[in-house]
Amino acid sequence: MNPYHIQNLEHYFQVYRHSVDAPEEFWQQIARENFVWQKPWDTILNWNPDTAEVRWFEGAQLNITENCLDRHLETRADKTAILFEPNNPKDPATHITYRELHTRVCKFANVLKAKGIKKGDRVCIYLPMIPELAISVLACARIGAIHSVVFAGFSATALSTRINDAKCSMVITSDGSFRGSKTIDLKGIVDEALQDTPSIENVLVVKRIQSEIQMKEGRDYWVQPLVEQASADCPIEVMDAEDPLFILYTSGSTGTPKGMVHTTAGYMVYSSYTFKNVFQYKEEDVYWCTADIGWITGHSYIVYGPLANGATTVMYEGVPSYPDWGRFWEIVQKHKITQFYTAPTAIRALAKENLEFVETYDLSSLKVLGTVGEPINEEAWHWYNDNIGKKRSPIVDTWWQTETGGIMISPIPFATPTIPTFATLPLPGIQPALMDEHGKEIEGNQVDGRLCIKFPWPSMARTIWGNHQRYIDTYFSAFAKKYFTGDGAFRDATGYYRITGRVDDVIIVSGHNLGTAPIEDAINEHPAVAESAIVGFPHDIKGNALYGYVILKETGETRNHDNLRKEINQVITEKIGPIAKLDKIQFTIGLPKTRSGKIMRRILRKIAHGESDQLGDISTLLNPEVVEAVIQEAL
Ligand code: WTA
Repeated sequence: MNPYHIQNLEHYFQVYRHSVDAPEEFWQQIARENFVWQKPWDTILNWNPDTAEVRWFEGAQLNITENCLDRHLETRADKTAILFEPNNPKDPATHITYRELHTRVCKFANVLKAKGIKKGDRVCIYLPMIPELAISVLACARIGAIHSVVFAGFSATALSTRINDAKCSMVITSDGSFRGSKTIDLKGIVDEALQDTPSIENVLVVKRIQSEIQMKEGRDYWVQPLVEQASADCPIEVMDAEDPLFILYTSGSTGTPKGMVHTTAGYMVYSSYTFKNVFQYKEEDVYWCTADIGWITGHSYIVYGPLANGATTVMYEGVPSYPDWGRFWEIVQKHKITQFYTAPTAIRALAKENLEFVETYDLSSLKVLGTVGEPINEEAWHWYNDNIGKKRSPIVDTWWQTETGGIMISPIPFATPTIPTFATLPLPGIQPALMDEHGKEIEGNQVDGRLCIKFPWPSMARTIWGNHQRYIDTYFSAFAKKYFTGDGAFRDATGYYRITGRVDDVIIVSGHNLGTAPIEDAINEHPAVAESAIVGFPHDIKGNALYGYVILKETGETRNHDNLRKEINQVITEKIGPIAKLDKIQFTIGLPKTRSGKIMRRILRKIAHGESDQLGDISTLLNPEVVEAVIQEAL
């Protein structure tokens, strides 16, 4: 049976076993039989665990857009590649065929070239969920430029930090974006960000909302007229397997965001393979992932994975609540969506609303439902299963990370029996291990531990842009020769995995990873603040919300504290973005610390969870006396 398409549980086990016994042979077959190569590889895997250097398919040459576009022109030229559903339901949806997408990517790529972009240059893309976002991503890949997509909800400061880290020479943005009933001035944010980004030479601006904006002469250009004049002939740049394809930033528990580098061949092979199997994709399907292309989910499972398989992939510009909470289901009915992939936070928000928003629509086209981004709680799982899947469509709870490039642990629909809150079994090629605090692997079942991956897989991030040492320190130093995920997990009696959550100082809020340190740094920039500490606490919809403990410089502070709370959230919005705003801010006289001066977040977490009666031993603290005060002040 074909390992590229897993048919049932027995087949899964057979394929999985082979992928562990002979990983190189396994991936070689997948790569050879399902993609087009300009030149085959000399070696399948080169791995040096001591330096955390991994290379897949070395010697091979290819272009990922040839695999996502050109090769489909023979058989699928008139098939819809991207189905664009605009923010306003009264505006018509757009069907972009493979032929048209190929032309638009080639033209866009020629515009990039005309503006001096060449292989290896970094291009920052800061766009809303409109077709030009996918097109500019593919245009970069076509000419070998490295794209760095920044989610268009990030602030000017966050954008400029990312531009400077990668030394991007161009930004692609739009005059603004539609978000429900609001518009957002993206170009204004870019202008602010570009005040301090010496590497930027040009800005390409897509017209979307027709707003009046400033165009800086000699720097800023409207995209559409340039594209219209551009030639539709753009041969692929022939790339080496390990040439970088993109950089995507993710928050760490400390320091600046990490620019995860994904390379060409391995990423293509793995994102395509997992798309095919995890969604059991078939030729006539209409697949919809509600993520934004600004995140890894959008890269792998809106753009590259679906297009490499010749799929129809939906891009939705708006939000789940506009014009009302029935919008997702209206779209499912209208386009007869077959696979629907979203985040637990969206499911929880939808589940709070009246069921009429669901029942009005015909959802019978759905075959597979997916979730990603954080653990899904049982209640949300059942609501999804009962009301959306009508107990007919399997739910794939997919665990993975920006760093892993593709889905790692997930059921295969119609093969793996699902259990709520379990991501279930590793996909072929993935070798998980649970580790104890002494660095030893925990064998057997019914065990909890830190989740590591023991053997390389094709789409793992190769390094952190410009800082390989940080890559080693973050991912390969906690446990010798193993990739450490930062997550905890439980393995049940049958070998199923349940992800229990982060074990570091990353908090997942509405599916977005937020490091505590950068938020604390932002708060501390407020002139009235002396020190701060952030922890997560449970939230009905967001999964976790942020709770800040803030020490003010003047203890006799007389200003209205509610104003100060607003100001603190304003600073966070400016430095990071509105997603990092605090739900609760407690002004406190002190923070519990260890004798070496580290903040004891464990205690702050308990207090924020309302569990101050379960603090355990606090006698070893530097300042145990502040704990009682912090409890008294708690909100
Ligand atoms: C969490 C998103 C439980 C996890 C693709 C991981 C999950 C982090 C799941 C990566 C899941 C993602 N169940 N937890 N199904 N999926 N996570 O980089 O903590 O934005 O480490 O990638 O999200 O988030 P990232």
